Amino acid sequence: MRKSLIAGNWKMHGSLSQVKSLVDNIKQGAGAYTDIDILVLPVFVHLALVHDLLSHTPVMWGAQNLYLGTQGAYTGEVSGPMLKELGCQYVLIGHSERRTIFREDLPLLAAKFKAALDAGLKPILCVGETRAQRENGETEAVVREQLESVIAFAGISAFAQAVIAYEPVWAIGTGLTATPEQAQEVHAYIRDLITQNNVDIAKTIRILYGGSMKPDNAASLLAKPDIDGGLIGGASLDAGSFLAICAAASREPTAAIK
Ligand code: 13P
Repeated sequence: MRKSLIAGNWKMHGSLSQVKSLVDNIKQGAGAYTDIDILVLPVFVHLALVHDLLSHTPVMWGAQNLYLGTQGAYTGEVSGPMLKELGCQYVLIGHSERRTIFREDLPLLAAKFKAALDAGLKPILCVGETRAQRENGETEAVVREQLESVIAFAGISAFAQAVIAYEPVWAIGTGLTATPEQAQEVHAYIRDLITQNNVDIAKTIRILYGGSMKPDNAASLLAKPDIDGGLIGGASLDAGSFLAICAAASREPTAAIK
């Protein structure tokens, strides 16, 4: 049985005061859902505050990106060990916004995935197709290439510590959500691909869905057998919505009452 993971990707949002109130509210509600993992991913400059606010609570935090190595002449970048020192447990690798806006290519992302593991962080590898790729029937080929480039570089055993997030690009921030059936189909494909490399890792690895997941569609997505949680953008900036998605993922009695 895989433990659900609900992760909030805050992207480039929030001021210090907004982050404080969001974290306080999430912290208060999160205690009701002890059977799931809850994670928030603020911007780099808010990590120290989040570290102070969430230490000794069940809510985990992580980062949205990192650069290779430990330190060096890489102006504007942040390394894995720096994130680890701030208590990060997870880091996003290859979010579609990084792939497209910042032109991060397959070799760089494979190296970042490995850099995360080298620093003791768990990478959340994001994969997914654009609308045009889906319409051309290329979804599986795109996802396969995004996964296989990392498997070839880091080795399948590296995935024992990793999470995969399927985020169809056409569903991100658009209000369009993959139907539970569409999402399940790709999640099952991803798990099959991992199975071909390592059966045990395929059984335990968590595959999250991301792309306009909201309180009103979370339960139907999370009910699918290969959807092990969510990577939430917009809805994670509102504590009530984020906690409602946590409730949908949880089997705790208090979650069922809502
Ligand atoms: P939205 O939930 O806003 O569509 O964002 C999804 C996402 O990109 C999470 O990483």
